[in-house]
Amino acid sequence: MSRPPPKPCSRYYAITVLAGILAAAAIADFLFASSSSPLSASLSLRPSNLIFVPVAHDNKEAADRVPERVLSAADIPAPNWTWEQLPSSVPRLDAAAVQIQNLLYVFAGYGTIDYVHSHVDVFNMTDNTWCERFNMPKDMANSHLGMATDGRYVYIVAGQSGPQCRAAVPRTYLLDTKIKKWERMPPLPAPRYAPATQLWRGRLHVMGGSKENRHTPGTDHWSLAVKDGKALEKEWRKEIPIPRGGPHRSCVVVKDRLYVIGGQEGDFMAKPGSPIFKCSRRHEVVYGDVYMLDGDKEWKKLPPMPKPDSHIEFSWVVVNNSIIIVGGTTEKHPVTKRMILVGEVFRFDLLTLKWTVIGRLPFRCKTTIAGYW
Ligand SMILES: *[C@@H]1O[C@H](CO)[C@@H](O)[C@H](O)[C@H]1NC(C)=O
Ligand SMILES: *[C@@H]1O[C@H](CO)[C@@H](O)[C@H](O)[C@H]1NC(C)=O
Ligand SMILES: *[C@@H]1O[C@H](CO)[C@@H](O)[C@H](O)[C@H]1NC(C)=O
Repeated sequence: MSRPPPKPCSRYYAITVLAGILAAAAIADFLFASSSSPLSASLSLRPSNLIFVPVAHDNKEAADRVPERVLSAADIPAPNWTWEQLPSSVPRLDAAAVQIQNLLYVFAGYGTIDYVHSHVDVFNMTDNTWCERFNMPKDMANSHLGMATDGRYVYIVAGQSGPQCRAAVPRTYLLDTKIKKWERMPPLPAPRYAPATQLWRGRLHVMGGSKENRHTPGTDHWSLAVKDGKALEKEWRKEIPIPRGGPHRSCVVVKDRLYVIGGQEGDFMAKPGSPIFKCSRRHEVVYGDVYMLDGDKEWKKLPPMPKPDSHIEFSWVVVNNSIIIVGGTTEKHPVTKRMILVGEVFRFDLLTLKWTVIGRLPFRCKTTIAGYW
């Protein structure tokens, strides 16, 4: 079994892209070490408190003047962006996040493979400080949550409860960020692990993800009418299943269209009989598929990402009618079977439906959390 050497990977970024600021917080602090044995996996902790602050430069200019840095054969050539360090909070992987104006709310996540967080940290992107921390309900899942916000209320769907590779749960919560009040919502019809989640046309939509065991892809798609932090229905409604199931996808609504981007089929799952639900590697297929709903009652397939990309649930921002996605994981190394992380910054132009690679993180990172202010 091989394990990559520990490298610092707990950093927050902010980057100025043309007029605005892209603040991407890479909260990945440890990685599942790759293993060719299907029954063993380990996690190496990569704690570090390095942060980056924005350096303003024009992205297009940067492309012209900055020499390209090639991280590995798998990397797509891209301009070498300049990043700066910002303050960090706690190391975490597989956290969830929403941005409400200048505040980035970061929920839960693994601290180590044996320790999961049960609190929220709030990052103020105006003065680059962590300005608040508060606890989550004790039985809310701790990683791989589905999450969406309407600008005040945060809808928190299912996810994995506890460390290692414990099962997914169906529990669903609501947070009023104004008064920091949590409430329960109707549970999903079934547990889901890292489901794609977004608010669209007055309904909370949840689709894909893995089933309870973390591994088996789900294609079900459900929705629940919600308004101002209230569920208007008692039960979730069945919607058109997504053509391809699986967790770790970006789910974004722009101009009344719902996009589901990237992801994978399969994931680590608990070793049978392990009292601690020890993670063990299973077959995974990473993909770059893009699916879109525009109200036509059927999913449309759009051009795929420049490379397969997964672990990007909260690694996206919308800028100027484009979806920007930072980092992730791509297909395994064909020989060593190691997980390969992604360092590119991708842009999907929603007018031309064209993907481009517009920049690069200082290092490759997965389950990166991104904000834009
Ligand atoms: C957004 O698009 C407009 C028009 O193409 C362009 O002038 C502007 O610089 C873009 N802003 C960003 C932040 O990319
Ligand atoms: C490109 O990235 C490398 C590695 O981080 C760095 O040493 C170099 O200064 C960067 N180049 C520019 C022009 O920013
Ligand atoms: C965020 O920072 C700005 C600038 O310092 C400040 O005016 C604002 O009150 C802060 N917001 C919160 C919620 O702390």
